Amino acid sequence: MEFENILFEENNSIGYITINRPSKLNALNRATIGELNEAFESAREDRDIKVIILSGSGEKAFVAGADISEFAEFSPEEGQRLAAEGQEKLFDVVANFPKPVIAAVNGFALGGGLELAMAAHFRIASNNARMGLPEVSLGVIPGYGGTQRLPQLVGKGKAMEMIMTAGMIDAKEAKEHGLVNHVTTPEELIPLAEKLAGKIMNNSMVAIAAAIKAVNANYQTGINGFEVEIEEFGSSFGTEDFKEGTSAFLNKRKADFPGK
Ligand code: COA
Repeated sequence: MEFENILFEENNSIGYITINRPSKLNALNRATIGELNEAFESAREDRDIKVIILSGSGEKAFVAGADISEFAEFSPEEGQRLAAEGQEKLFDVVANFPKPVIAAVNGFALGGGLELAMAAHFRIASNNARMGLPEVSLGVIPGYGGTQRLPQLVGKGKAMEMIMTAGMIDAKEAKEHGLVNHVTTPEELIPLAEKLAGKIMNNSMVAIAAAIKAVNANYQTGINGFEVEIEEFGSSFGTEDFKEGTSAFLNKRKADFPGK
């Protein structure tokens, strides 16, 4: 699959999706969001891909935000459409993706960039990463889920402070507040993501997809997460992975999950 603004490759069951506009610090324009949507949809169908590592090209940025040059002249209606389409095409797709998505934050993750990292299932960062939601400094608010996902991850008070000051926090502070799970050197960032992906892939990917659904249910209005959990728990009993996982345990051998 050939893209202009992203790189997409598969290796050892990992799908590497990398935003690739380093001269613009990987800013998310409409075309890039479209290509990311295509890559995720293709990864969804690809049985060889079990985990996604999402990152940015170059040494400076994960993603420095939505592309400001594209929306500077927008009307309120166009602004609303931009946020709605972006959330539907990319941010909700990532958050609800049935395979684990690890964001490897390798530099600036600002505005839409931090929102993209927050849509991922969890985040790790290099020690040169800088994260923030600077939208109010531009006279706008976060529009790709930032006002919702940042308080979920760091708590309301810290999120309010970050959004209101439009400031950046470094990787160490991000870890202290639960925004990222691990901090490492830039060189070790992708290897660490691969190590975590490797641990994940030892388990049942069918059960993991069900767990993602149940955890996400906690954050959706009008849905009772406990009921979703009961339903997904029950469904697990009908999978081949469950038969394999339990029989491997009882026979004291390592499970070899068929992924069904
Ligand atoms: N949208 C569009 N272009 C962007 C961008 C964005 N969000 N972020 C960076 N760029 C572009 C710059 O315009 C510049 O392009 P140019 O070389 O054609 O002029 C290029 O990327 C490099 O950025 P530059 O600002 O020169 O790098 P820097 O190291 O001096 O500063 C930042 C880095 C991240 C502090 C700065 O680029 C910045 O503040 N970006 C905007 C962040 C933001 O507000 N994001 C939220 C958007 S809603």
